[in-house]
Amino acid sequence: MPPHFPLFFFVFFFLSSFSSSSTRKPLFPCEPPKQNSYQFCNTSLPISSRARSLISHLTLQEKIRQLSNNASAVPRLGIPAYQWWSESLHGLATNGPGVSFNGSIAAAAAFPQVLLMAASFNRSLWSSVASAVAVEARAMYNYGQAGLTFWAPNVNVFRDPRWGRGQETPGEDPMVGSAFAVEFVKGFQGGNGRIESGIGEKIRVLEDDQDDDDGKSGDLMLSACCKHLTAYDLEMWGSFSRYNFNAVITDQDFEDTYQPPFRSCVQQGKASCVMCSYNAVNGVPACAQKDLLAQARDKWGLKGYITSDCDAVATVLEYQHYTKNPEDAVADVLKAGMDINCGTYLLRHTLAAIQQEKVLEEDIDRALINLFSVQIRLGLFDGDPRKGKYGRLGPQDVCTSETKKLALEAARQGIVLLKNDKKFLPLKKDVVSSLAVIGPLADDGTKLGGGYTGVPCSQKSLFDGFRDYVKKTSYAAGCFNVSCYSDEGFDEAINIAKEADYVVVVAGIDLSQETEDHDRVSLLLPGKQMALVSSVAAASKNPVILVLTGGGPLDVLFAEKSPQIASMIWVGYPGQEGGRALAEIIFGDVNPGGRLPMTWYPEAFTNVPMNDMRMRADPSRGYPGRTYRFYTGSRVYAFGQGLSYSNYTYRFLSVPSKLSVSGSFEDAFRENAIHQVGDQLDYIYIDAVPSCDSLRFSVEISTMNVGDMDGAHVVLLFSRPPKVVQGAPEKQLIGFSSVNTISNGSTSTSILVDSCMHLSFANEKGRRVLPLGDHTLFLGDLESTLSIET
Ligand SMILES: *[C@@H]1O[C@H](CO)[C@@H](O)[C@H](O)[C@H]1NC(C)=O
Ligand SMILES: *[C@@H]1O[C@H](CO)[C@@H](O)[C@H](O)[C@H]1NC(C)=O
Ligand SMILES: *[C@@H]1O[C@H](CO)[C@@H](O)[C@H](O)[C@H]1NC(C)=O
Ligand SMILES: *[C@@H]1O[C@H](CO)[C@@H](O)[C@H](O)[C@H]1NC(C)=O
Ligand SMILES: *[C@@H]1O[C@H](CO)[C@@H](O)[C@H](O)[C@H]1NC(C)=O
Ligand SMILES: *[C@@H]1O[C@H](CO)[C@@H](O)[C@H](O)[C@H]1NC(C)=O
Ligand SMILES: *[C@@H]1O[C@H](CO)[C@@H](O)[C@H](O)[C@H]1NC(C)=O
Repeated sequence: MPPHFPLFFFVFFFLSSFSSSSTRKPLFPCEPPKQNSYQFCNTSLPISSRARSLISHLTLQEKIRQLSNNASAVPRLGIPAYQWWSESLHGLATNGPGVSFNGSIAAAAAFPQVLLMAASFNRSLWSSVASAVAVEARAMYNYGQAGLTFWAPNVNVFRDPRWGRGQETPGEDPMVGSAFAVEFVKGFQGGNGRIESGIGEKIRVLEDDQDDDDGKSGDLMLSACCKHLTAYDLEMWGSFSRYNFNAVITDQDFEDTYQPPFRSCVQQGKASCVMCSYNAVNGVPACAQKDLLAQARDKWGLKGYITSDCDAVATVLEYQHYTKNPEDAVADVLKAGMDINCGTYLLRHTLAAIQQEKVLEEDIDRALINLFSVQIRLGLFDGDPRKGKYGRLGPQDVCTSETKKLALEAARQGIVLLKNDKKFLPLKKDVVSSLAVIGPLADDGTKLGGGYTGVPCSQKSLFDGFRDYVKKTSYAAGCFNVSCYSDEGFDEAINIAKEADYVVVVAGIDLSQETEDHDRVSLLLPGKQMALVSSVAAASKNPVILVLTGGGPLDVLFAEKSPQIASMIWVGYPGQEGGRALAEIIFGDVNPGGRLPMTWYPEAFTNVPMNDMRMRADPSRGYPGRTYRFYTGSRVYAFGQGLSYSNYTYRFLSVPSKLSVSGSFEDAFRENAIHQVGDQLDYIYIDAVPSCDSLRFSVEISTMNVGDMDGAHVVLLFSRPPKVVQGAPEKQLIGFSSVNTISNGSTSTSILVDSCMHLSFANEKGRRVLPLGDHTLFLGDLESTLSIET
């Protein structure tokens, strides 16, 4: 939220009557026998009828007091106050007032930051983590320490390497972002329509048996929220801030970069909330943009509520200057389809907006139906929720050994080996008699979670992880902190490096460099860190191991080229078990398999204006484009980079070489579905393809582990479309699968591809097209041609 709004930031007001310390009798709506004569308590009625019934009992004042994340109680109806704002990006977090660790539950699992989990490319991991967070969340709810509505996942595309919140996202690829969104939301919201294990590997859109109605009570274990709609990926750059920024987006980029993760999050994930962002999109603040919100609700079928980012209604007026007064801002967002405001702006200005006839009471009722429907689906209107099906979850279900193991597993799977000269790693346990661990973050367990971290179950540092392997492990910070302004600590670091057999230098960034409201200006290691790494490397007996922390890409070309730096490992923000996972990898107990979910650009990329939202390169104006799909410049590491202690070879076991668009070609042609130049058919419009069924195919792949270690391996299948349409991507990911392999063994996996979804992209008008002709499929060094014909 804008820092100058002195709201309710860390104030904890929420279901105070619910907390175990309270002596007041808990307040629940529909608690038999007293209140269940209300029709909104009648579980035989559809959700929307119950919500309508509830609204019919409320006065205008009471209605307005529901339009804030701190929603007021209505005691005469038995309705308690409710705090809508809880956070759970990669574990329960205290960023929202809904979550508190002051109570029976004093800690919860801190999984790796999302970007590192994305690096596993493992759908079942994502879903398991989301389910594990959900169990802890529901347990905390039962003890009055959390709400039931959480504002995660963050599925904005990691478009610019400087973005302070790129760490929170699944990376730069819209297809990976979509897949993550679906797994996260399904795993987190629980209930019905969940993807069964295994099917997650396939791209199938699950049919929803409930599309006709509006859900039922108890069908949501929790509510997840796809944020921030849309094109939000700039905190502060020059005179631009996220509050005043107008993202100028082409229709093409809108359709095939910015929207896909949100669309999947709502359509397939069935998220029950969407958050609109601070920024404007092509001149209109996102929360006031009717088309944008209607797309989510009507086209994607959002069943749920739309919240503003915190104080994003105030910013419509105060930063975006889109309206002239607060009442117009309130009217615009309510008419656009926003349902609730994080903040107090609607509490303060809605009545005046009604008196000025800018807002009608029915505009509020429309919003309230969405809000109450979600609460009813969450089981909040069925009497004491602690008597319901999740009611027994409690402290015994938080920080369990299985959950901690999963946090460890997530870190193991995500960590990326970037460089490993002459198989320097893994180190042999019995050979290493002493180890020096150097760097300002190396012995700081508090920085391993990244943004949106709560209180972890345990807090061990990277140094602690190494000490479990090598008794004689010494430590020096080298720099006072990550900013590393001074070289005062270098001598101590160099001295311990000289003494040790092997040296690990931990460099990189933390939240002091990249976070909410704070983008980076450079991609280089901060301050004198590069000098620290180089001087330690020069002094060590053996080449050193460089461990890089943080979310944003780093220009570490100096290290890539240096023979004194044998190995490099990116650990992102690895979460509470990160220290152990890193040590296990360095000592060969785990074979690394993570792959970078974003491009690592050189420092020269910082010449690109951060506010230029175009994805596609524009060579005539020296604009290099963004992400592996469009970027034409040089890179430090490519999207998908990631080594292993083994090598892998591939074989296509089966891959189609030809597909035909079936269905009534004549009809399609009549409807202008096909683009034709002369005799040549160029492409077809996806929205006019009679059926995409005949264009779905599966690629069977055999992966051989030709190394001497078992290991997880990520198979990435890319395609390059024929260049018949302006703005075709260089290549794009069309499927991925992570497999467990054994040394000298081969493993087969199958990747389902939906041509309509994955081989297509948008034309300049933002309409999705599938080029006809030869698409090239890439799998490592292998290529295969797939011809699409009519
Ligand atoms: C609940 O709703 C059903 C369906 O409309 C109705 O038949 C029933 O009488 C209602 N129950 C009560 C207690 O009002
Ligand atoms: C939340 O709203 C109630 C009124 O229902 C008010 O008393 C309380 O101070 C508010 N809490 C915060 C943190 O704003
Ligand atoms: C924790 O809760 C107790 C009891 O409700 C309260 O007295 C105390 O001030 C709280 N501490 C914090 C840090 O909020
Ligand atoms: C880092 O340390 C310097 C002193 O060397 C200090 O001035 C600066 O505020 C610190 N930065 C952070 C983010 O703690
Ligand atoms: C993998 O293969 C490459 C090229 O043959 C080789 O240079 C490298 O050492 C191998 N790596 C491992 C871990 O076997
Ligand atoms: C994917 O994650 C699941 C859950 O942690 C795990 O069981 C499986 O082994 C992982 N697959 C790979 C290839 O790492
Ligand atoms: C894998 O094959 C190589 C070469 O045939 C052999 O040296 C090695 O022992 C095998 N490793 C395992 C684990 O079987």
